[in-house]
Amino acid sequence: MSKVTIIIGSRRTGNSQHLAKKMIERFKKERIISNIIIPGNQKIFLCTGCMDCDVNGKCDFKDDMEENINKILESDTLIFITPTRWNLLSGDLKIFMDRLNPLYTPKKLENKKMVAIAIGSKKKEEYSTESAITSLGNFADSANMNSVYRYQFNECLEANDILEKEDEINTMLEELIKKVK
Ligand SMILES: Cc1cc2nc3c(=O)[nH]c(=O)nc-3n(C[C@H](O)[C@H](O)[C@H](O)COP(=O)(O)O)c2cc1C
Repeated sequence: MSKVTIIIGSRRTGNSQHLAKKMIERFKKERIISNIIIPGNQKIFLCTGCMDCDVNGKCDFKDDMEENINKILESDTLIFITPTRWNLLSGDLKIFMDRLNPLYTPKKLENKKMVAIAIGSKKKEEYSTESAITSLGNFADSANMNSVYRYQFNECLEANDILEKEDEINTMLEELIKKVK
């Protein structure tokens, strides 16, 4: 049975969280086990760059990343949903990614499936959301993960705008299920 962790880069009850909720409902029907992490709602200290984790595979900080890392180790697929911010991934996700460094040297992210989804207010033609996905993809490449799917939702500014795109969400979910199963 496939296990998925969805990591959401926005702490508002907005488009990213709405999408994750729909994803989980759909996954349940396929018997895919999923859990959610919202780093912005957690206690996560900033990486100091001390590099101790490169030596002993552990971070000295005691915070919510201990449980997050356990969830990630158990997952076959990581799904990152980011709001586009300045053409990039959200700061909440970058802080989270930095704290995954203990998994880098022991290669524990390698070959896990990576799904990158970005949501932004601009039009597709402006390539802003595309840039945010690229920044997620750069993380996956650096970690030698297996990038299996990427998708962007454009023209979502207000917190509920994505809920107007039900057909698009359902089509996306059908494609996604095939990659995650
Ligand atoms: C600081 C900040 C920067 C943003 N930068 C962009 C951007 O570069 N491109 C874009 O399309 N939308 C940008 N947006 C809009 C958000 O991506 C958009 O509102 C998105 O739907 C937010 O997702 P959420 O509802 O899950 O928080 C920005 C929003 C904020 C708060």
